[in-house]
Amino acid sequence: MNANPLVPIRGRIIKIVQETPDVKTFHVSTTGGEKPFAPKPGQLAMLSLPQAGEAMFSITSQGPNHLELAIKEVGQLTGALHQVEEGQECGIRGPYGNGFPLDYLKGKDLLFIGGGIGLAPVRSLINHCIENRAEFGKMYVVYGARSVADLVFKEDLFENWPKVENMEVYTTIDRPEEGWTGHVAFVPAYVEELGFKPMTTITCGPPIMIKFVLQALARMGFNDADVITTLEMRMKCGIGKCGRCNIGSLYVCLDGPVFTLEQLKKLPPEY
Ligand SMILES: Cc1cc2nc3c(=O)[nH]c(=O)nc-3n(C[C@H](O)[C@H](O)[C@H](O)COP(=O)(O)OP(=O)(O)OC[C@H]3O[C@@H](n4cnc5c(N)ncnc54)[C@H](O)[C@@H]3O)c2cc1C
Ligand code: FES
Repeated sequence: MNANPLVPIRGRIIKIVQETPDVKTFHVSTTGGEKPFAPKPGQLAMLSLPQAGEAMFSITSQGPNHLELAIKEVGQLTGALHQVEEGQECGIRGPYGNGFPLDYLKGKDLLFIGGGIGLAPVRSLINHCIENRAEFGKMYVVYGARSVADLVFKEDLFENWPKVENMEVYTTIDRPEEGWTGHVAFVPAYVEELGFKPMTTITCGPPIMIKFVLQALARMGFNDADVITTLEMRMKCGIGKCGRCNIGSLYVCLDGPVFTLEQLKKLPPEY
């Protein structure tokens, strides 16, 4: 453990998986081949590359000796990350954030709703629920992306998750595409079309998707306290010191990124 919490652990990118044209999943170990730390589902890691900077990412999965971060190429650091090869050294620090409320979710039926790269944090919880299947009720996943090429974690969506007992997976794309025989609709419309009864739901995706998903869930009678989402405020320190991520009295890096809709409605109106 480093004495200064802002000093990263020396890590190594041991595997890179191309998920979509602009998303890659990076498997990160320490340079000694160990898991850098043991996060809870929904927690975050600050990943850095020398000369390119550092940024916060959801930890989408983990193995005995590594963490997995699914990263979309949008700018300087993520662009540099998308250029590296397996074996590259990096910095990693964490875990940060509150993670999903596992005790609250136990015994409940769960509806997971994701859009685009927003499946990354939700996947950490889905995989936890699968590993501890007996602790949770029925599980439903509704996931969508712009096109077939933009669907992340295809092996989980089409092979692994549909085989899990009492778990249903619904995948959709925005527009019809040659060779795609699955559903075509925006995620919020598909959720409403599937007509779920109110249950605990966990949703993450682009802001426009979240906005319409929340409206659909309200029409369907879902309770604000049972609608859980994750926020993506820009972050710098990750440890509640710099004030970059605060909303009112809350720090997203400490009190979040996981919040219920009931909590979000109590935040200042500018949010
Ligand atoms: C809690 C949290 C979880 C995240 N999880 C993931 C994840 O799992 N996968 C993933 O790919 N990304 C995730 N992100 C976003 C990721 O941190 C940014 O994409 C990254 O900081 C971009 O760095 P960059 O240097 O490549 O881009 P920059 O060069 O800094 O910026 C490129 C463009 O993206 C915008 N931008 C950058 N960061 C953000 C941000 N956080 N919010 C809004 N706009 C931004 C900039 O304004 C600019 O237009 C997460 C962010 C947070 C705060
Ligand atoms: S990122 Fe610095 S206070 Fe949250």
